[in-house]
Amino acid sequence: MKKLIALAAIIFVSIAVACNQQQDPPAPPMAGLPDLSIPVGPVPGPQKTTAPPKDPFMGDPVATQEGRQLFLEYNCAGCHGTHGGGGMAPSLRDQDWLYGDDDAHVFASIAQGRGSGMPAWGTKIPEEQIWKLVAYIKSMRTKEEPDPPLTPPKPSVRTVRRK
Ligand code: HEC
Repeated sequence: MKKLIALAAIIFVSIAVACNQQQDPPAPPMAGLPDLSIPVGPVPGPQKTTAPPKDPFMGDPVATQEGRQLFLEYNCAGCHGTHGGGGMAPSLRDQDWLYGDDDAHVFASIAQGRGSGMPAWGTKIPEEQIWKLVAYIKSMRTKEEPDPPLTPPKPSVRTVRRK
């Protein structure tokens, strides 16, 4: 009887071992799912600080002239005045900047639009043309300004009509 139990135990163990060796085949990759072996998210390591982009056309007289042309073509002048001196929209000639005067901020004002009534042009105007507009706007009041106004424009004061 002992022998029989021992035999049964041996058979049981060897079946168990044999079953364990049968491995599932590797699952096929699921279609449409991203490859999760590629790491995503922030890359560890020291943070890289990049300087805000500079206008590649700054000081380029041809590009500045083109910027002037674009300013009229896109009717920026319709709101900001023929020479950017202000109209229903604030002056771009004065020294007051609502949203910052460095190249990157002026670019962002044009590309993304601004709070009260400045449309976003980023999807309508190629980046290169926006930089040319920036070059033109920043040439205002300097001797590099193409087609400067003959008389200094009146300061932009939004007049309130009284009854
Ligand atoms: C529909 C009228 C309108 C048009 C067209 C328009 N703007 Fe504006 N723009 C505004 C208004 C209004 C503001 C001020 C927004 C505010 O105060 O939040 C502004 C603000 C700006 C500013 C930020 C000025 C600052 O002081 O920081 C820039 C730069 C600018 N516009 C450039 C342009 C250019 C370039 C174009 C043409 C591609 C253009 N705008 C077309 C209405 C207009």
